[in-house]
Amino acid sequence: MNKRFTGYVNWIRRAHIHDMKVLGAIVEDARAQAPDHIAMTGDVMNIGLPAEFPVAKAWLQTLGEPHNVSFTPGNHDAYVRGSLPFITETFAPWCSNDNENHTVFPYLRVRGDVALIGLTSGIPTLPLLASGRLGREQRDALAKILDDTGRRGLMRVVMIHHPPTQGGAKFGRGLSDAPEFEQLIVRHGAELVIHGHNHRLQVRHIEGGGRRVPCVGVASASAVPGTPLHRAAYHLYRFEKSGNGWKVEGRMRGTAPGGEHVTDLGAIDL
Ligand SMILES: [Fe+2]
Repeated sequence: MNKRFTGYVNWIRRAHIHDMKVLGAIVEDARAQAPDHIAMTGDVMNIGLPAEFPVAKAWLQTLGEPHNVSFTPGNHDAYVRGSLPFITETFAPWCSNDNENHTVFPYLRVRGDVALIGLTSGIPTLPLLASGRLGREQRDALAKILDDTGRRGLMRVVMIHHPPTQGGAKFGRGLSDAPEFEQLIVRHGAELVIHGHNHRLQVRHIEGGGRRVPCVGVASASAVPGTPLHRAAYHLYRFEKSGNGWKVEGRMRGTAPGGEHVTDLGAIDL
């Protein structure tokens, strides 16, 4: 309850930052681009109230068929311990393995030559903290999936809410097992890691063992026009087979300065 109280106060403050009209324009533009798949890396809620779940679900449905939309919960989605059963129940269509319909993390969805791997880093925390954690079990399962999909030559996209690199977020807001995640990626590989949480474009790389894996953070999809990096946006990726590996291209689309009009904001330097 205490956490929900501080969260509620923050939510009221955030109401000036997040605009549902802006969000609508972003979704409309994203759908008009006709992507093969939409990855939503959270948060979709504020303080994990039971009443927020149906709203979040209804909104996810506007993105397209759950078969073509994947979701990874964030810290606001897993706000208090009591939220967890709601997550499992509500988000099953977007957080399940192929041919299954129950929530599982990590989940694996294969679409053509692309492997979409969804993690949960949202854990209930103390008030005013916004950190995340994967945990040993999830990391071990992820390693196996990366090995298997890597052997099959698939384009591996890892989706997570928290920035999974060391120093990728401010103190108390990061992924506590980011060092372990980085080692895991160096050892088992991935072609792209995408995340949310910081509400800004952010590009980092996990390097080692001959790999250089881009980790890309996206702006909020509902932020009212502010600084260029924080303005409401989403990313459009294109994957192309190249030799033994994959060529990844990303572009940012978002609101132009001072308006709700969504335009191309340029290539993401991967
Ligand atoms: Fe977050």
